[in-house]
Amino acid sequence: MKKHSTLGEFIINNQKEFQGSSGELSRLLNAIRLAAKVVNHEVNKAGLVNILGAAGETNIQGEDQQKLDVYANEKFMQTLINREIVCGIASEEEDDFVIIKSNNEANKNKYIVLMDPLDGSSNIDVNVSVGTIFSIYERITPIGKPVTIEDFLQCGNKQVAAGYVVYGTSTMLVYTTGSGVNGFTLNPALGTYYLSHPKMKFPRKGNIYSINEANYIHFPQGVKDYLKYIQKEVEKGNQYTSRYIGSLVSDFHRNMIKGGIYIYPTSLKNPKGKLRLLYECNPMAFLAEQANGMATDGYQRILDIKPTELHQRVPFFCGSPSMVEKSDYFMQQYPEDADY
Ligand code: AHG
Ligand code: MN
Ligand code: MN
Repeated sequence: MKKHSTLGEFIINNQKEFQGSSGELSRLLNAIRLAAKVVNHEVNKAGLVNILGAAGETNIQGEDQQKLDVYANEKFMQTLINREIVCGIASEEEDDFVIIKSNNEANKNKYIVLMDPLDGSSNIDVNVSVGTIFSIYERITPIGKPVTIEDFLQCGNKQVAAGYVVYGTSTMLVYTTGSGVNGFTLNPALGTYYLSHPKMKFPRKGNIYSINEANYIHFPQGVKDYLKYIQKEVEKGNQYTSRYIGSLVSDFHRNMIKGGIYIYPTSLKNPKGKLRLLYECNPMAFLAEQANGMATDGYQRILDIKPTELHQRVPFFCGSPSMVEKSDYFMQQYPEDADY
């Protein structure tokens, strides 16, 4: 596929590679592409909201301005529901999964979507990049019946596609359908995404580490040992640098391009970790592996964890393989259930 082809062309070309494909996945990816454009528009004008609000204005629909994560959730949900292309959705912003019914007949769609509609939302007020994460599976219960919790609690290794949108200095959509990772940049003037980052790969080694070090005192001993190891490497003259945006999508994106590791371990405050297995870790782990990277909870592959609940949290170690191997080595010097 040539560089600078559009995302639309790319999706159609990819569809031909799936034998006997009905085009359902392509339609679903197109819907995500569209919803991301709408959210992008809203994210970009976030800085204006207070200025407009100060004049006593309401928005164009006469509604009060909503919080952006609620807005993003609604836009993605509405787009997927209106287009009748999935049979179920689970979102970080919803307590339970949503069963999608069709208007006149039983819903014949086979895909479900899980998403974090707005990741890194604490960064919105300060003009720092945020993102959207999505994960797609085929349902396992029979088509035509309402989806059940079983459809959503599948292992990450069953994902059909996953991706993210990063609303950054430019807006990018990065996704995989299981044959590599490709990144598309939005041209806002035309509303078209162009293939700008074909076949994205984590460098095998990296020198960036991304972790909220303020929690150091509460980290498991394995993570403390890994951070000490990095400090000793620096002492020896090896280069490391710490970069932490606090927006998983942006930290992951940078680390994939430059080489690095992202860690969100357990801590006293978050005894199971903070990130959600289904909406954050599984899709990022699928992308990481498709880009020659690794993703574990310190002991096992994220994609092999059998989920037990929708909003389950897990520790997350993700990035350049030599760095994840090293941090896992330090973690595995201690039992997984050790009390700190
Ligand atoms: P969300 O905005 O969807 O709640 O996710 C925020 C996540 C992740 O994106 C980020 O890396 C992490 O939480 C930051 O947590 P800390 O502020 O605890 O470091
Ligand atoms: Mn998030
Ligand atoms: Mn979120």
